[in-house]
This record gives sequence, structure tokens and C-alpha cells, in this order.
Amino acid sequence: TRVGALVPAAGRGERLGGGTPKALRPLGGRPMLLHAVETLLSSTLVSQVVVAAPPTLVEVVGQILGPRVRVVPGGAERVDSVRAALEALDDDIGVVLVHDAARPLTPAKLVDAVATTVLDGHPAVIPVLPVTDTVKEVDADGRVVRTPPRDVLRAVQTPQGFRRDILYMAYANRDLPVTDDAGLVEALGVPVTTIPGAEEAFKVTRPADLVLAEALLAQFAP
Ligand code: C5P
Repeated sequence: TRVGALVPAAGRGERLGGGTPKALRPLGGRPMLLHAVETLLSSTLVSQVVVAAPPTLVEVVGQILGPRVRVVPGGAERVDSVRAALEALDDDIGVVLVHDAARPLTPAKLVDAVATTVLDGHPAVIPVLPVTDTVKEVDADGRVVRTPPRDVLRAVQTPQGFRRDILYMAYANRDLPVTDDAGLVEALGVPVTTIPGAEEAFKVTRPADLVLAEALLAQFAP
């Protein structure tokens, strides 16, 4: 079974600030997206990478990433970007990884672990870590509704891996308000398997995340 990877990279990065779309913000002197894509390409299990770029930057992103990567215009929401990338996968891809451009320091061994677990017969696989903050559910007025016990909560990372047919079905059903791909798969009633995530696979969202990413990168490659 061939494994393909989709990279939604069409977000504006408003929480990060700075104007440039997040995927193209430099990290260690190179666009954040390039780090994520190079990790995927370095996996011997991944044989195709499709990136959803901001629509006005499809050509620029194509030049940055080179001929091994297909680049398509992304959409208004992350789900629209993933759907656009899904359409561009080769027909014989049977397992799909969905990986945020905004997780530039994700270790290659995490990519391989997710892909291997799907190839072993699990239809949907997500990397997770225990949460460190207590998490509360609140209502529209900000009043606390409940406090789930922290030990049953997990923070979810990417890449998330799926059997292609399952992801396709999940995306046929897209009007659900979800922030991760596995959420759509859960709504189908398909079991989702968790594997241990990696600290370095954190998402660069706010300015302090970029500072941390730069510092870690400098430590890996002095
Ligand atoms: O906004 P957030 O940090 O959760 O975005 C996660 C990933 O989804 C990022 O890689 C971002 O570029 C991508 N995205 C996208 N299209 C959108 C919004 C976000 O590809 N419309």
C-alpha cells in the first residue's frame, strides 16, 4: 500500500502576527513549511506529498518545495484545504497522513510510527500527549460548565493517519465543527487509535512558539 501525505498550509497565521502567511514564516532561515515537508519526504514510507498553499502563493510555494511535491490552492478553512489536497492524491495511495505545516520540528520517527500503525490495520491513528494544563468547558458567557479530569485528556498532534477510504468518507460529511481530521472520522463511528506523540511536534501558533522552535532548532543543528 502506498502512503501519501497531505499538508494543509493555507492558514493566514493571524495568532502568530507578522503579516506573512504562517507556513512561509522563516524558521532557522527557511520557511516553516519546508521543514515539515522535508521531514515527510525523508520518510521511506511516504511516497507522495501534496501541499495546500494560500491560493495566491501556489507558484511561489511550488518553487520553494521543488518538483517532488504537488501544490494545490487551499481554502477558507482548514477542512477546505485538506479536501483540496485529498483530491490531488494519486489513485493508488491507500493510506493518507494529514500533517500541519505549522509543526516544523516533528520527528521523522513519529511520521513513520503513525504510518506503520495504519499499515498494521488501524483505520485511524493519532499521536497524543498528556495535557499539562487543567482544561475546562465553558459556556458562551465564559462560565465554567465542567472540568474533565485531566488524566483522561490528551492533546492531539499531527501527522494523523487514515485509511484513504475512511478519510474520504469523513470529508464527505464535513459540516461538523471539528478542529482535527480524526474528529470527522470519530463522527463516522470509526475507532481512532492513539499512539504516543512527541514534544517536538508542537504546533507553532503564537509568537512564543516561534521563539521556542528557533531555540530547539539551534540546539539540534548548532
Ligand atoms: O490554525 P491552525 O494553527 O490550527 O492551523 C493548522 C494548519 O492548518 C496550519 O498548517 C495551517 O496553515 C492550515 N490551514 C489551512 N487552511 C486554512 C486554515 C489553516 O491549510 N484555511
